[in-house]
Parts: sequence; C-alpha cells; structure tokens
Amino acid sequence: MNSPKILIVGYEVAPFYKRGGLGDVLGSLPIALAKQGVDVRVVMPDYDVIPKGRPKKAIGTFRIVFDTSEEEVTVHEGVLPNSHVGIYFLGNSKLISPINLKRKQIAEFLFFDLAVCGFVNWLEDKGGFVPELLHCHDWHTGLIPLILKKRMHSSLPTLLTIHNLGYQGRGSVSLLSKLSIEEEAVRNLDPQGTVGKLSSLGEGILHATALSTVSPTYAKEITSPMKRAPIFQYFRLREHIHPLHITGILNGIDTEIWNPRTDPFVFSRYDAHTVGTKKEKNRERLVHGLKLAQDRPIFSFVGRMAGQKGLNIIKQVIGELMELEINIVFLGSGDRRIEQDIRMLATRYPHFIHADIVYSEVVAHQIYSGSDFLLIPSLYEPCGLIQMLAMRYGTLPVASDTGGLHDSIDDGVTGFLFHKGSGASLIASVKRALAVYKDKKSFERMQATAMERDFSWDRSASAYKSLYGKLLASSV
Ligand code: GLC
Repeated sequence: MNSPKILIVGYEVAPFYKRGGLGDVLGSLPIALAKQGVDVRVVMPDYDVIPKGRPKKAIGTFRIVFDTSEEEVTVHEGVLPNSHVGIYFLGNSKLISPINLKRKQIAEFLFFDLAVCGFVNWLEDKGGFVPELLHCHDWHTGLIPLILKKRMHSSLPTLLTIHNLGYQGRGSVSLLSKLSIEEEAVRNLDPQGTVGKLSSLGEGILHATALSTVSPTYAKEITSPMKRAPIFQYFRLREHIHPLHITGILNGIDTEIWNPRTDPFVFSRYDAHTVGTKKEKNRERLVHGLKLAQDRPIFSFVGRMAGQKGLNIIKQVIGELMELEINIVFLGSGDRRIEQDIRMLATRYPHFIHADIVYSEVVAHQIYSGSDFLLIPSLYEPCGLIQMLAMRYGTLPVASDTGGLHDSIDDGVTGFLFHKGSGASLIASVKRALAVYKDKKSFERMQATAMERDFSWDRSASAYKSLYGKLLASSV
C-alpha cells in the first residue's frame, strides 16, 4: 500500500505554540507517524507568538469568502524540529494573528477551520502533497467536517480526535452565516436542547467520518449511556447516522526530551539500575532548594490548575495528609481561585508544602527527578501525560482511577490508584504508597518497573496508522 497522505490539524503544536498536553501530542505524534512511513504534514494558525527566528518560508496565498468579504490567507511552511515533517502556518493579519491570550472562543476558529478547508483546495490545485484524510484535534477544528460537507461538498474523510470533552467551543448558531452555511444544517440535526447554540466539538462529533480519543477507558466512559450533559446528545445523534464507535489510543511521551539518563536539567542523572542511589541526590537537592522537611517523602502535583484536575480534594483532606508526615510540592498555574487556595495551603504549612504558581518545564524536570510520588487527583482524565513522565523518572503516581490514568498505571506495580473524587480513597492510597516507601527494596522495585514501561510514541503511532488505513480502505 502507498503511504497514506495525512494532514494533521490543530491549534497548538509544540514547540511553536503550546498551552497544554494537546501541544505536546501534536508536536510528537507526526514525527512518530513519519518514522512509520506515513506521509504526514501538520497545519496550524500562524500566530504572532511563533518565534520569528524559526525558519519558515512563505509559499503562497489564497482567498476565501468569510462573512461578507474576501479574505487573504497566507501560507508559510517549516518543519517540526529534529525531523523532516512539514508544518504549514495559515495566517491572516486580522483574523488569526496576533494571538488572543484570553480564553479561546469559537468565533476565532470559524475562520481557521474555513481556511484549512480552503487550504486543502489550494494544495489540490498546486499538486504535490494532497491529503487523503484530515486528522482534526479537539473543538478548535470541530467545524472542519461540517464545512467540508455543507459548504465545500467534499467527501474528504476526517478523523476527529477528542482530547477533552469538557471544552466544546460553544457560540451562537448565527455564527454559521459567516461560513455561508444555513443554520438549518445544524438545527435539523439538533432539534432539542442546544438550539440557538453552536457547539464546535458537537458538530465535529456529528460530521467526522470517524472519532477517536486519547485512551481506551475514556472512550468507554464517554460513550456510557448514563451521561446526561448536553454534549452527549451529539453522540446519540451520531448514532442515528453511524454506529457509535470511538477508538481509544493512548498518547505517548517524548522519551528523548524526558529521559533521566540524559536530561540536562537534572542534577544527578540515572536509569532503572541506578534509581535507588542517584535519584536520592535529586531528592535531597529538591528538599533543600525548597526548604522542606528533609525526612519526609515528597508528593508533587504538576499541571494546569483547572477544576478537572481535582485539587479541591487535596484541599479537603490536607489535615489528614499532613498527619501522614509528607511534603507536598505544587507546580502549575491556571484558575485564579484554585491558585489562591494552593497558595494558602503553602502559607499554612510552610515547612511541608511548597507552591510554585507558574508553568515551568525546566522546574517540572527537577520535580519529576526529585520527587518520590506524583499526586494526580483528576476528576476525569482523557489521557494525562504527567503520570507517564513521572513513571519514566521513577516517581510513582498516586492517581484517580479514571481515563488514561487507569490505562497507564498498574495499581500496586507501577503506581497507586484511588476512586476519583474520594478524599478517603486518596488518603488510603497515600497510606499504601507510604507502606511501600518504608520498605526500600519494594519501593525501588516499583520504581524500576515503572521506569521500564514503554510509553514511547511508536506504539500509539502504529495504532493511528492502522486506523488511517482502515478509514482510507472504507472510503474508496
Ligand atoms: C487534554 C486532556 C489530557 C490529555 C491531553 C492530550 O489536555 O485533558 O488528559 O492528556 O489533552 O491528549
């Protein structure tokens, strides 16, 4: 079979622009796919924050009708660092750049989604790389399948990967007029509930040729018939057209950037054989640097401070956690109210709790290498990358038993799982973790086992490759 031609579409691609896990995925997956013989390119908005010095060359422009006027879209081309994978940047000085750093709204992506569809036509006219399938990611690209069908009358297959059902991109249905799509196109399919509202992710769920998500367990969780939130209506509506199937493929991590054997940010480098002795040096340094209690194990939290991440559970049981004689380190930023709560905890227990309310990748490396455990109390977690990063550094996750956490952590073998949302269950698993910690031999065995688990992108890329193959075979 010829190598499938795939265009990956997303709004954040590391290292060009990154807000969270999605950016990491879109920076790594294409390179892993290319290694497996997929002819893959990436396209993202040409934001002004994309470092100016990064080589990208202008390769052309095209025009699309948006709202009531004709707009020009500029096309620049570059490559993903350390690879030959091409990345296209679509620009428009009014509608795409400069970047709006506030919460992203659907209106911003109407234009980008339309521009991507126009770009596909432009590639077809130009010859050379012409995609056979568009691989869209999250709600920012959710309108693409709708635009292809209702405006372009194109049958180009699309795969929509859901990274987080909690973010939908909702706006007024009247926005559709900017795309020259009849409101009826949406209303007919969704007669109850969300009339008057357009859900970008919802439209993607309805119109994409196929759906996938970032872990098998999250795929099961979101298709459970018990769910009542409005977004689930779209799954029910999809079922009228296709049998509802969501493929769950666990993400990988970049095992070169995240490698305790070569990590330039780590004080003492180590591997699964030396974890017992060498990791201790990183631990000591972290404890000293942060002025925490020397004789207490370190439990860390690294990540976005958003409701989804379940930090309120830590807050609820903080007294009991402190009685267990542990240190806690927080690294991350996000919701102001949650940041405030975490700052308060650090002020209340200055010798045992440290909070860094910033997003710093360098500090994250130091925390993974110096901590004993990573606390992950997420209320839901489509995949989660931090548990895999932690395990790679021999830091055992103590995590909610949900989504990708369930799929990547082996309870009692590479980490500890507890019932999501339950403070009592969190405490019980911290106690289990401490019992193992006290028995150095068992602790080191778990650390080495966790470090040896394969979380590389190769596994995920081959699953995507076979999914592309199936979709292309059924679309001819
Ligand atoms: C979202 C999800 C997270 C996942 C990431 C990458 O941020 O919340 O669980 O790991 O996307 O797929």
